[in-house]
Amino acid sequence: MRTVILCGGESPERDVSLASGWSVARALLERGHEVVLVDPAAAVPLLAGPLQPGDGVAGVAVGKEPPSLSHRRQLRWRMYAALTGGPVLELLRGAELVFLALHGGWGEDGHVQALLEMAGVRFTGAGSAACAAAWHKGRAQAVLGAAGVPVAERVLWRPGAGEVPQDVKRLLAAGPVVAKPVADGSSVSVHRVESLAQLAQVAAEAGSAEGELLVEPFLSGREFTVAVVGDQVLPVVEIELTTPVFDYQAKYQPGAVSEVCPAQIPAGFASRLQELALRAHHALGFGRDVYSRTDFRCDASGEPMCLEVNALPGLTATSLLPQAATGADWTYPDLIQRIVDLATR
Ligand code: DAL
Ligand code: MG
Repeated sequence: MRTVILCGGESPERDVSLASGWSVARALLERGHEVVLVDPAAAVPLLAGPLQPGDGVAGVAVGKEPPSLSHRRQLRWRMYAALTGGPVLELLRGAELVFLALHGGWGEDGHVQALLEMAGVRFTGAGSAACAAAWHKGRAQAVLGAAGVPVAERVLWRPGAGEVPQDVKRLLAAGPVVAKPVADGSSVSVHRVESLAQLAQVAAEAGSAEGELLVEPFLSGREFTVAVVGDQVLPVVEIELTTPVFDYQAKYQPGAVSEVCPAQIPAGFASRLQELALRAHHALGFGRDVYSRTDFRCDASGEPMCLEVNALPGLTATSLLPQAATGADWTYPDLIQRIVDLATR
């Protein structure tokens, strides 16, 4: 099958996405696909043809600083131009399938999906509507709450638009909070905050695309993630942290975190997390032919709260979804092939 993999892009998770793209390319080549690997924000394909020794190693250092806002604007412009005309669009239109290995920003918020839908190009993962529904953590909360998926209280605040809201002050008076961009992935710019002064500092450097912060109580319990691939709910993964918050640096710093799959938890609790992940997947409009990964963190009493549903979770060899797949006895290429099969059946 002629498959174009899109990775890189304009988001703060650009490097993670490049790493995912190369991993997916290897798996698809192993399964006999004809692969072109494209970063829509770059001028030339990263790979068109067989892999050469050393391919995919250079240039991808996940965990360093994400692109600055001005660099991001340049990348966006190139990506827009590439996806709406010129050789990249031609490549996509000639492909039987586009495999989306983009993460964050335009890759995961529904923009790219909408363009592909409009161009009539078949692609992996959720469509534009579900991506948009999941991407804004504040709006997703309302949908999840209405569907019976527990979510911690969340307050949205646009720092440029005035004073700290009373609701944020109330949360902060009750204990530490977490402040994060309302729409970003890989825990970029996630902060644990204990005082108004600290919050002001975080607000000043908030780099969210939407300029909005989400503030919620700091949850001190265990952290889990559950992936859904089509009809199947994979085993629960526990993320064991050595830092108080699973932030961007911790996520991609070797040794800062360890994952256990299947999580060492009672069967009833695992089933509950799996049921909640499936409910969240469907509530946000993710169908039976796509995949997602839902993150949970427990409060002090051990109650799981849904943090978010990821429409395009990481696919690097050590990412959480591939680890969950291992727990189901799927190899990495098995997982990638299943994602392809869902998109093409
Ligand atoms: N946002 C990153 C890629 C993840 O969820 O794995
Ligand atoms: Mg995420």
